[in-house]
Amino acid sequence: VRRTSVQTLLGSQELEREVVVNGWVRTRRGNKYVQFIAVNDGSSIHNIQVVADAEKFPEESLKDVTTGSCVAVRGQLVASQGKGQAVEIQAADITVLGKADAETYPLQKKGHTLEFLREIAHLRPRTNTFGAVLRVRHALAFAVHQYFNDHGFYYIHTPIITGSDAEGAGQMFRVTTLPDQNPPLTEDKTGVDYKQDFFGKQTNLTVSGQLEGEVAAMALGKVYTFGPTFRAENSNTARHLAEFWMIEPEMAFYDLQDNMELAEDFLKYLVRYALEKCSDDLQFLNDQYDKELLERLRFVVDNDFQRLTYTEAVEILKSAKKKFEFPVDWGTDLQSEHERYLVEKHFKKPVILTDYPKDIKAFYMKLNDDDKTVRAMDVLFPGIGEIIGGSQREEDLEKLRARMAAMHVPEDELWWYLELRKFGTAPHAGFGLGFERLILFVTGMANIRDVIPFPRFPKNAEF
Ligand code: 4AD
Ligand code: MG
Repeated sequence: VRRTSVQTLLGSQELEREVVVNGWVRTRRGNKYVQFIAVNDGSSIHNIQVVADAEKFPEESLKDVTTGSCVAVRGQLVASQGKGQAVEIQAADITVLGKADAETYPLQKKGHTLEFLREIAHLRPRTNTFGAVLRVRHALAFAVHQYFNDHGFYYIHTPIITGSDAEGAGQMFRVTTLPDQNPPLTEDKTGVDYKQDFFGKQTNLTVSGQLEGEVAAMALGKVYTFGPTFRAENSNTARHLAEFWMIEPEMAFYDLQDNMELAEDFLKYLVRYALEKCSDDLQFLNDQYDKELLERLRFVVDNDFQRLTYTEAVEILKSAKKKFEFPVDWGTDLQSEHERYLVEKHFKKPVILTDYPKDIKAFYMKLNDDDKTVRAMDVLFPGIGEIIGGSQREEDLEKLRARMAAMHVPEDELWWYLELRKFGTAPHAGFGLGFERLILFVTGMANIRDVIPFPRFPKNAEF
């Protein structure tokens, strides 16, 4: 008999047959006649109930079948007598593959706080909440590739180690080799000690794959990158990580309008995908944490995003009755309190803000004719704030050089980026979607540290 997943068994119509399932015990309860063992194998938010009759399984034989232990079960799949499940397994054989000492297993029954679970990141995937979040995370990652593949985009692997600062914001982690512990790398004929100076220049962990994405877009047309990015910024918030995953499409011949169309269509596709493919997990998260989650997701899928300029948004914020912690004035960057006011209080729907002042945005954004604003777009979501940042890119060599000079971005690091404007330049645009912010939105979780398996943030890299 082949092993079957809990997910498959729970949906099975073929009863009265022998099945085998492996998984981890969530609970065991019962009386002296019968024991009920809830087994989960990660394939579903739901457990399969294993029924062990005392005649066949005396108390002693089940002593190691405790919460957290790993078991292999063989038995008959039968219609369940009890409420809450259609089928269950009448056990014929239960093997304990791995014991879990009941006294010391950290995940006892229910009711652990998310803060506590963060301290046991190696075990929290075994909880209902993290099982659900990780399955949703998987589904969304898959949907990203599906969407782009269906729309003629090519997946480009941009480097993790870079010699430039893509955002020009100086928030990078340096890459170095360990001093001395390792045997020294051989010197080449030129006498360069690779150990001391591995790349021959300073290198960093990438903050964004955009610039390399632009290289690919200027040859393949429509591309995207989807990989880890790193920021040494103050990420002690519920929306920031020092290591997060970013999805960055980049398209030749797209202007800001096209970019907005794509961003909106893409986000709606992803949310719709999760609603369809992760309905059980989302229902669980809805019931457990956030009773308006499903409603909010459906709302986003069904309604147009509000589009307006930064300048218009500042007017709205200035005339708002609400007192903000940070005052708003044209030229200042919007804080998350402002973004959330616009989305949650004023428009009550997702918002795309465009045409920000050039001084608060990155050097590569295309300058507008007013010479003051750039063709930037930020997509703001309820409960999240900024979920996407993007822009049309400056494709004019001299204008780009002027912006780089004004913003102290060194040309020698980015000579290759400038050459894209020298040889066959073209209008183009792109954006970056923070993958964990998307998962936050879709799962309704409150803290970004709870939507990535091993969160990285200041003073935390235990796992
Ligand atoms: O707005 P950002 O900094 O834009 C860029 O990096 C561009 N190069 C993207 C592009 O045009 N190709 O970051 C993009 C998105 C943000 O909107 C946010 O969702 C997410 O990345 N993000 C973070 N997510 C988690 N932790 C952090 N520290 C983040 N910083 C940005
Ligand atoms: Mg941004």
